[in-house]
Order: sequence, then structure tokens, then C-alpha cells
Amino acid sequence: MSLSIVLLWVVSVSLLAHSQPNPRGYLLDCGAGKQSGSTVGELKYITDEGFTSVGNITTLKTPDLVPILSTLRYFPDTSARKYCYVIPVVKGGKYLVRTTYYYGGFDGGEEPPVFDQLVEGTKWGVVNTTEDYANGLSSYYEIFVRAMGKSLRFCLARNKHTKSSPFVSAIELEYMDNSLYNSTNFNKFALTTVARNYFGNQGDSISFPDDKFNRLWQPFNDTNPTVESHSNITSSRFWNVPPAKAFSHAITTSRGKTLQIQWPTMLLPSAKYYISLYFQDNRTPSPYSWRVFDVAVNGETFYRGLNVTTSGVTVYSTQWPLSGQTQIALTPANGMPVGPVINAGEIMQILPLAGSTLNRDVEVMEDLARTFNDPPSDWSGDPCLPTENSWTGVACSYGEHVRVVALNLTGMGMSGSLPSQVSNLTALNHL
Ligand SMILES: *[C@@H]1O[C@H](CO)[C@@H](O)[C@H](O)[C@H]1NC(C)=O
Ligand SMILES: *[C@@H]1O[C@H](CO)[C@@H](O)[C@H](O)[C@H]1NC(C)=O
Ligand SMILES: *[C@@H]1O[C@H](CO)[C@@H](O)[C@H](O)[C@H]1NC(C)=O
Ligand SMILES: *[C@@H]1O[C@H](CO)[C@@H](O)[C@H](O)[C@H]1NC(C)=O
Ligand SMILES: *[C@@H]1O[C@H](CO)[C@@H](O)[C@H](O)[C@H]1NC(C)=O
Ligand SMILES: *[C@@H]1O[C@H](CO)[C@@H](O)[C@H](O)[C@H]1NC(C)=O
Ligand SMILES: *[C@@H]1O[C@H](CO)[C@@H](O)[C@H](O)[C@H]1NC(C)=O
Ligand SMILES: *[C@@H]1O[C@H](CO)[C@@H](O)[C@H](O)[C@H]1NC(C)=O
Repeated sequence: MSLSIVLLWVVSVSLLAHSQPNPRGYLLDCGAGKQSGSTVGELKYITDEGFTSVGNITTLKTPDLVPILSTLRYFPDTSARKYCYVIPVVKGGKYLVRTTYYYGGFDGGEEPPVFDQLVEGTKWGVVNTTEDYANGLSSYYEIFVRAMGKSLRFCLARNKHTKSSPFVSAIELEYMDNSLYNSTNFNKFALTTVARNYFGNQGDSISFPDDKFNRLWQPFNDTNPTVESHSNITSSRFWNVPPAKAFSHAITTSRGKTLQIQWPTMLLPSAKYYISLYFQDNRTPSPYSWRVFDVAVNGETFYRGLNVTTSGVTVYSTQWPLSGQTQIALTPANGMPVGPVINAGEIMQILPLAGSTLNRDVEVMEDLARTFNDPPSDWSGDPCLPTENSWTGVACSYGEHVRVVALNLTGMGMSGSLPSQVSNLTALNHL
């Protein structure tokens, strides 16, 4: 499921704002060509040239688009099994990968193509921006993933619904503190963002530098009463370091009543989810500024007897099964003089990783790819995974270790003797 954002039109940015250094990572403005890239707010994007060797670039004709949406890279080669970016990372680091898509009719069509996105050897999900595009919005997707090697491979691929060329407008890679979402085993799982909201507000989305990791927090408001906060928070004291701005308002209800919120608003596919909720008593700090309530999700106790003070608190669940609608209910303890409050929440789907090809085989295959003058365009990313997106001419075994077992180099413009690297593919039994 995609997240949409009104990131369409150029907004004027105060020239007086002191420019902050970018968060650690890469911000790629896809299709920017040889230009240096562009600036959005305080963030500087660089061109994606050099991070991929495939695809064509184009500039949209729509006037006044935000610079990162005005160019894109698309992948017309229908024979390639995937189109990959290889981005340098800190091995073992935890990263947020955010991909942004704005179709803009670049191929002369009416509807955006639907295609897959992959991260390392795992199918991350389907990119379907049809509805957002029809509503005049760009779309983005987020995944939190551990970098297993010295580079992170992000790819697009066709699927059976893909009618025209897959494309991408921007790719962002942000380094996360190790403490973020640390109850998740990132060696086996990734987290894909379903919703990240701050409640009781209708303003702009919160991002860098308010969120130092450049996560996006969208406003959420419903028909419940809202309150403004009268005390500051120190976000570093919270698990997952939510931005202080996310606590400026809260959703509440009157004394003695249960606060019910339909959040997130969309219907969720049946799966396990990481849920993190953020609370703060909004009153001026005093010995009496605290309130106790129970937190329930779809009628099941999520946290009993939560004591929320003016310094605030996070409660989270590592793996919570959800399906369809989600309802959060906050029920006050007996005798509380004020109703419950909630300030912000995050919900991410837990995505099992598909693993990766044995690293030694990957290194040999990448080495081999470099000896070709013109390697097949899908010879980048994981050679064997996902299974339907393995490299052209490469056959693999999918046992405990994923290995390259056969190569068919016919028609790849090879001449003369075989490169010596091939002898290092120790599971190879067919050439
Ligand atoms: C993409 O670029 C290649 C080479 O740069 C060119 O030969 C090809 O015609 C282009 N394809 C499209 C659909 O523009
Ligand atoms: C893409 O999304 C649109 C709008 O939600 C939907 O009608 C369409 O069936 C989807 N396409 C695919 C291939 O899933
Ligand atoms: C996770 O991070 C928190 C700080 O945000 C820390 O207190 C806790 O010990 C960490 N847990 C693990 C398992 O690393
Ligand atoms: C939230 O929505 C309610 C009703 O829909 C409205 O009365 C209130 O002003 C909104 N609050 C904010 C902070 O936008
Ligand atoms: C919050 O912090 C700001 C800046 O540090 C300070 O000016 C303000 O008085 C504080 N507000 C409260 C209610 O503590
Ligand atoms: C809630 O926390 C406050 C501040 O730590 C404390 O004074 C109060 O007694 C606590 N209330 C309950 C019911 O534990
Ligand atoms: C090897 O690839 C060529 C060209 O794609 C194909 O014609 C041939 O049938 C393949 N051979 C095997 C054994 O799969
Ligand atoms: C093959 O592997 C050996 C040992 O890991 C290494 O020293 C050698 O450089 C490799 N050769 C090639 C051609 O990759």
C-alpha cells in the first residue's frame, strides 16, 4: 500500500534558513542527468548517475513541479528481469529506504504502470500509484532494512500487470540509530511503513530537521476533540526518538469516556505489524499532571494501566496481528479527572526477508559482470533472488545456502577463454 503526499508544487523556502547538513545517507534525484541534483526544503539531492547503469532519463512537461519529481528514470528494456541501483552503505547499519513515484504521463500514457520493487533478495512489494496519480498526488514507500553488505541493492522489476516502463522519481537512503525499532530482528525481517502520524493536527508533514532521521510524519485528525500541549518533551528520551513537533497537539475526549480512534484509516492486509504509540499529558507540568488509562487495539489489551505524564511515554508491540479495520481504544482508569490523550503513532508491516545468495558467489558474479564489455542489463543486484528475478543465464540452487549452479553465457558476446573467476563458483556444475 502506498502513502501519498501533496509534494507536487514548488513551495517557497526561506533563504534565511540556516542550511543543516543532510542526514547520513544518500538522497537521489532520479533522472537528474549530469546536473548536480536539486534542493527540497533543507535537503540536497544528488543525481542518480553512477548508482545504476541501466534505464533512460526524462523530464516531465508539467510546469512548477517539485524538482525531485520533475525528472525520472524509466526502464524500457522488456527482456531484463530487474533494474537495480547499488548504493554504498555501512555494513550492518540499519537504513530507511524511501522511494518516491510521480508518473506525470512521461510515456504519453494515461495511467502509471504497476510493477514490483525489490530490496536485496526480497520482494518488497508492488508499486501501484494509479489512485494517487488520479488524485494529483505523488506516492512514496518506506522500508527499514539492515545492510548486510557494503552496498544496498534496490531494484525495480516488471510483473504480469506491468504494461509500460517501470520508473522512479527519487530514492532516499537514511542511516538510522541502532536503537530505533530495536525489538525487531533485522537479520530476518524488514519493516514497511503503513502509517506514521501525529494526531490532532492538520498542518504540514513533519520531516528533517525536526525528525533527524528524516522520517515523514503526516497529520491525522478525526472528529474527536483536540488539545494543544503546554509542556515540552525531550524526544531523545522516547523510544524511537519521535520529533518534538509531533507532540504539539493530541486527540482526547471528555472525562470518563473511552477515546476511540479508527487508525490507520485504510484496510490492512492480514499480517503481523509493529505498532508504536506515543503519549504525553498536555497540561502544564505539575505533581498532578498525569493520567492513567488502558490501551486496547481491536478490543485486545495492548497496555494496561498506562501512566502518562508530561514527559511522555512510548508503548509498542513487536508483532501484532491485524487484518481489515483497526480501532484503538483508550479507557480511563476509575476516577481520572481528565480523559485519555494520544499524540502520535507508527505502524509498520513485518516483512520476512528472503535471504540472499551466498556472498562469495555474489562477489564472483559481480567480478564476472565487470569482465564483460556489455553485460546483460539485469546483471546487477542479487544473482539468484528473488527467484523470478535472477540474472539472465544464471541458474541457482535454493537450499540452505543459495548458490549459483549453472551459467549459460551463450549470446552474451563472450569470446575466447572463460574468465578465471568462474573457477571460484564452487557450486557450479553446468556451464
Ligand atoms: C533508451 O536509451 C537507449 C540508449 O541510451 C536508446 O538506444 C533507446 O532508444 C532509449 N529508449 C527509449 C525508449 O527512449
Ligand atoms: C492499482 O490500483 C488501482 C486503484 O486502486 C486498482 O484499480 C488496480 O486494480 C490496481 N492494479 C493492480 C495491477 O493491482
Ligand atoms: C533498544 O533501545 C533502547 C533505547 O531507545 C534501549 O534502552 C534498549 O536497551 C535497546 N534494546 C536492545 C535490545 O538493544
Ligand atoms: C480537527 O478536526 C476537528 C473536527 O473535524 C476540528 O474541529 C478541529 O479544529 C481540528 N483540529 C485541528 C488542530 O486541526
Ligand atoms: C519549551 O521550550 C522552549 C525553548 O526551549 C521555551 O522557550 C518554552 O518556555 C518551553 N515551554 C514550556 C511550557 O516549558
Ligand atoms: C503516575 O506518575 C506520576 C509521576 O511519576 C506519579 O506521581 C503518580 O503517582 C503515578 N500514578 C499512578 C496511579 O501510578
Ligand atoms: C542458453 O541461452 C541461449 C540464448 O539465450 C539459448 O538459446 C539456449 O537454449 C540456452 N541453453 C541452455 C542449455 O539453456
Ligand atoms: C578465487 O578465490 C581465491 C580465494 O578466495 C582468491 O584468492 C582469488 O583471487 C579468486 N580468484 C578470482 C579470479 O576471483
